[in-house]
Amino acid sequence: MGKQLQGKKIVVLGGSSGMGLATAQAAAEEGGQVIIASRSKDKLAQAKDRAGGNLETYSLDVTDEKAMQQFFESIGQFDHLVSTAAGGPTGKFLDLDTSEAKKTFAAKYWGQYFAAKYGAPYIRENGSITFCTGILSQKPAAGTSILSTINGGIESLMKALAIELSPIRVNTVSPGIIDTPLYSKMSDKEREQYFNSVANATPVHRIGKPEDIAQAFLFLMTNEFTTGTVLKVDGGYTLADL
Ligand SMILES: NC(=O)c1ccc[n+]([C@@H]2O[C@H](COP(=O)([O-])OP(=O)(O)OC[C@H]3O[C@@H](n4cnc5c(N)ncnc54)[C@H](OP(=O)(O)O)[C@@H]3O)[C@@H](O)[C@H]2O)c1
Repeated sequence: MGKQLQGKKIVVLGGSSGMGLATAQAAAEEGGQVIIASRSKDKLAQAKDRAGGNLETYSLDVTDEKAMQQFFESIGQFDHLVSTAAGGPTGKFLDLDTSEAKKTFAAKYWGQYFAAKYGAPYIRENGSITFCTGILSQKPAAGTSILSTINGGIESLMKALAIELSPIRVNTVSPGIIDTPLYSKMSDKEREQYFNSVANATPVHRIGKPEDIAQAFLFLMTNEFTTGTVLKVDGGYTLADL
């Protein structure tokens, strides 16, 4: 079988780290011409090194609407859009300042909204948009209200856009707990304890790897009969007693 993404151009927003980087690498290995974008020039350069120079990089802040519009104008036509860019404060509902909650919303909700709005006009026939949400929309925990809200909002936006932007296919991957630099703010000990507790409680008895999620993004890019779907890749987290 030939490479699945030969001749295709793929944009990965948030592609300099974690599951975005794993997806960019997997897409490049499948023959795709891959563009990654995020804010930090250092992270972009490291990602390019890790991929053996096989990625094009752009410095871009997904919260900047004008910059997002200009980014898509400058890259022109492409095939598949993946969006994993996110970040920002979270915390207990009553303690988290609204201004902090809005920063998280700006990156993960509005960033993906702008991506679809300004990217869709350039997506070629048989192309796709794949958002990234997370299991907190289905299984929230104390201290996660802002991410639960954003994930639920993006999952609804995804279904609406699967209808409105048709024939572009629009889906979302909903990851479980995945070992990425997202957890670098925790101490090694805290992280190990957290990962062990989740692994012990979930049916697959392990934490996810970025490559587990990259496979899901690749599936949604290449399966031309899937749209309007939340693809949960969580090792059974949402079934677990956590
Ligand atoms: N890891 C998990 O357990 C988990 C679970 C469920 C859902 N998720 C979701 O999965 C997605 C990917 O997370 P990850 O774990 O792979 O995180 P990660 O390793 O921290 O990667 C996040 C990426 O987003 C970029 N980014 C952040 N803010 C940005 C902005 N304003 N503009 C442009 N790029 C921005 C970062 O690069 P720069 O800093 O250079 O901008 C980085 O490349 C996120 O939506 C996250 O909420 C993660």
